[in-house]
Amino acid sequence: MLTFSFLTLFPELLAPFANEAIIGKARERGLLDVNLVQLRDFSDNRHHKVDDTPYGGGAGMVIRVDVAERALASLPPADEIILLTPAGQPFTQAVAEELAQKQHLALLCGRYEGFDARTEGLVTRELSIGDFVMMGGEAAAACVLEAVARLLPGVLGDPNSHRADSFSSGLLDYPEYTRPPEWQGVGVPEVLRGGNHGAVAAWRREQALTRTLARRSELLAGAELTPQDTLTLLGLGVTPEGLQLWNAPPPPPPKRARRKKKSVPEVESG
Ligand SMILES: C[S@@+](CC[C@H](N)C(=O)[O-])C[C@H]1O[C@@H](n2cnc3c(N)ncnc32)[C@H](O)[C@@H]1O
Repeated sequence: MLTFSFLTLFPELLAPFANEAIIGKARERGLLDVNLVQLRDFSDNRHHKVDDTPYGGGAGMVIRVDVAERALASLPPADEIILLTPAGQPFTQAVAEELAQKQHLALLCGRYEGFDARTEGLVTRELSIGDFVMMGGEAAAACVLEAVARLLPGVLGDPNSHRADSFSSGLLDYPEYTRPPEWQGVGVPEVLRGGNHGAVAAWRREQALTRTLARRSELLAGAELTPQDTLTLLGLGVTPEGLQLWNAPPPPPPKRARRKKKSVPEVESG
């Protein structure tokens, strides 16, 4: 079971995520647990103050390292202690997959100007959820919870449902459709309604490649491309030099046209 311990000044912001339908059920079933820790409980003054003014001057307040240290020491040992900060390693699907293998993750959510820089010495990694600055780390922590929890065995109804997700395969996901079959003059691609599973799988792969090429071509460098993918990408106008950059394998050899059997002239007998 994976336990998430969130150390925060605003546990009430994370509670709805911890109790949300799928995560709430997974907690009831003992697949994961969420532990909300109020940083103020580890203040050493009677006003429960956890921050102070920055040395050197400047705007804002800084969360004290000793408060972070006492809060962390109150927890059972964690496999990873994660500081959420815009200066951290980008949080990606690959990181989520790595974290889903752990037993206990402790996540430090900052506020104000963030934690005293010495807090970096207490953590195993720093994560950022993007190149923007939010008011606090709680929304970032909720992103980590949402992304990691759905990878845990048994949490999602269909264990295969995250396999084709964007990034899991190294590509963006293919487009999905549901009823109605026709909406405001836009129909559902015929292949999806034909019942040919092989054709559907081929179409989806082609769409995933098309979308990734158009929207996030840099992802192709990390995707596992097949010879058939190479053929598709060539068809989409990618040059052989471009394919080389993404380590794409050579395309499959062209299918040889089936030779027609020569009809043997009937020999008249007699
Ligand atoms: C206002 S921010 C502090 C920003 C800090 N002065 C800086 O520029 O790096 C307060 C807290 O929000 C959280 N935070 C803000 N943006 C984030 C992001 N992109 N990823 C992860 N955490 C973030 C961090 O926990 C941070 O300590």
